[in-house]
Amino acid sequence: MVKTLLEAFNTAEYPVVGHGKRNVQVLKDTFDHLDGEIDSDIYGTGTVIEDFQTKIAAYLGKPSAVFFPSGTMAQQIALRLWCEEKGSRKVAYHPLCHLEIHEQDGLKELHHIEPVLLSDKDRLITLDDVKSMEDGIACLLLELPQREIGGQLPAFEELEAIAAYCRARDIRLHLDGARLYEILPYYGKTAAEVCSLFDSVYVSFYKGIGGIAGAILAGGEEFTKQSKIWKRRHGGDLISLYPYILNADQAFDERLPKMEQYYRSAVELAGLYNSGIEGVTTRPLVPVSNMFHVHAAFPKETFETILIAVYEETGIGLTGNVRDAGDGASYYEVSLGDRYPAIPKDRLKQAFELLHEKVKQTAK
Ligand SMILES: Cc1ncc(COP(=O)(O)O)c(C=O)c1O
Repeated sequence: MVKTLLEAFNTAEYPVVGHGKRNVQVLKDTFDHLDGEIDSDIYGTGTVIEDFQTKIAAYLGKPSAVFFPSGTMAQQIALRLWCEEKGSRKVAYHPLCHLEIHEQDGLKELHHIEPVLLSDKDRLITLDDVKSMEDGIACLLLELPQREIGGQLPAFEELEAIAAYCRARDIRLHLDGARLYEILPYYGKTAAEVCSLFDSVYVSFYKGIGGIAGAILAGGEEFTKQSKIWKRRHGGDLISLYPYILNADQAFDERLPKMEQYYRSAVELAGLYNSGIEGVTTRPLVPVSNMFHVHAAFPKETFETILIAVYEETGIGLTGNVRDAGDGASYYEVSLGDRYPAIPKDRLKQAFELLHEKVKQTAK
């Protein structure tokens, strides 16, 4: 039977991306190290949740933080609160923002908020885009890094200029920091330094941090107090969130110190993709976090066939998911984590030589 790309990736001896399998073992490992007498949180109260919120608020340099089951819930609520404060229903964000393309229009359907799309799809929001925003915007959301264009970042100075512009005009600035930790080595800043430019911040615990699920929304005391009311209204106040919180806390302590390593791995791997394979390139060319996109000038099906052959011959799995990019092109996302350092360099080199060869044969 012919294997699918995902099957070939999952059975490869050395999968290159991610931290490891997303299976029940992740939760078992968390609880193996914990005292069974630790009390559950109860509807958003209790030591387990409160201590974690205090810890992450301090890390982000914000007065207060609230744990949410998802970033989707946290961010819709954040934007709702800033709209209520301003008495406006307008927010601005990138056309490929998570709220715009991955949330079934929750912001519009549940909160009747009108997003204004800034910039073109294939580039970052600039200060000029912000300056040309219409009046009445309650909040500008910036996503760092901008995932859907490969994880790109503005220069830190541009970010500071955008923040100053918004502050002077009473436009709230919210950070979609789903991958905030992952960009800190490139910026050479602490999380608190980056977050000081923003009125509110969301961070995730299951991307670079590698936890099961969960998010924190951080900001001022009044903002987070109000966000808890909306969390309740959304049904986000699960009676017990401790499986997520305890796992997030452990993953945070374990992986935060490795962000520099993940970033360096991404730069190294992108270098291999950009070593002259015809029609293949990465975006950005030099990663600024642990992620990048691989673009190919040939269709998804062609790319999949080539990749499966590479995995089967070399044992190296590069991705489990290629997407159609239109116009006969394709791409996939790469996020580096714990798996990368364990891959023998000679095997990786061999996989890229074979990839090079197979792409050349296909192009003939
Ligand atoms: C940039 C960005 N923002 C927000 C989210 C939403 O996170 P969650 O899956 O916790 O709702 C994601 C999830 O992939 C994301 O990538």
